[in-house]
Amino acid sequence: MAWDPRIEPWLDRYPALRAIGHTPLVPVDVFREELPDVEVFAKMECLNPGGSLKDRPVLRMVVGALVDGRLRPGKTILDSSSGNAGIAYAMVGRMIGWPVEIVIPDNASAERKKRMRAHGARLVTTDALLGYDEALREVARRARADPDRYFFCDQYSNDDNWRAHYETTAEEILEQTGGRLTHVVAGVGTGGTITGLGRRLKKHDPRIRFVCILPEAFPGVEGLKPLGRPQDIVPAILDQSVIDERVPVTVDETYAMCQRLAAAGFFVGQSSGAYLAGVEHVARRERQGRFVTLFNDLGERYFSTRLWDA
Ligand SMILES: Cc1ncc(COP(=O)(O)O)c(C=O)c1O
Repeated sequence: MAWDPRIEPWLDRYPALRAIGHTPLVPVDVFREELPDVEVFAKMECLNPGGSLKDRPVLRMVVGALVDGRLRPGKTILDSSSGNAGIAYAMVGRMIGWPVEIVIPDNASAERKKRMRAHGARLVTTDALLGYDEALREVARRARADPDRYFFCDQYSNDDNWRAHYETTAEEILEQTGGRLTHVVAGVGTGGTITGLGRRLKKHDPRIRFVCILPEAFPGVEGLKPLGRPQDIVPAILDQSVIDERVPVTVDETYAMCQRLAAAGFFVGQSSGAYLAGVEHVARRERQGRFVTLFNDLGERYFSTRLWDA
């Protein structure tokens, strides 16, 4: 794992940031009996100190802004989030001593809101019925209204988001698989993961197929953006050219997969279940391959939702 060299001195200055990254890649054998020629590995992004895949991009975006002076003393770090990025901002903000303000749809799980507040972040909520896109519009309104007060990190348009996965997550996957993999299955929130992994891993081997999960729009999967309807905002950093195939996944399939994973010893959140449901779709069709996916956050983050009610 190698961050951009300009990032390193800041990690020396704030060594707690070094807890981010270096996650294990573990075999997930739930399809082994039925599909003996399919191998599945999950990158355990849920083991980051903020509890999710968003720690790396938030570190990269915030420290990247310190490096080039976009984030200066006196500014508040501002962004919208479905929750996990907000936690990462709140945590990283505390580690480096900067105030944080997060715009979040009001249906984000209570666990997320409580953690952000515990780290001292200020939360602004938007109407859940208007979706994530309303949080996007509201954060842009705030940033425009008071540019001197805020550093608007803008994870949907910030190239340091996908660079975090290009520089670190993808490098670790190459090391951990010996560079041998056939498929990557992921979804799109900001598009940072799929763009960063896609650009780096396809550079290594252009035959690696990228499968993008398309979640049902309602009730939705926390962390994943509905895409495909004309009104959906497509993140600016999403590089659609890395995506080879799109696989629709229902919320019922997502929840059932989370339960199945829990029975196998993995306690992960909704989007991780959706990703593995996507792996299953493709693996059943192809019946062979070396799949890599991500476990984005832990099941604990969803106790207040109906995920574990069944
Ligand atoms: C739980 C969860 N899964 C998946 C994603 C999607 O990741 P990305 O923003 O890199 O597209 C997010 C991010 O927002 C998330 O919070």
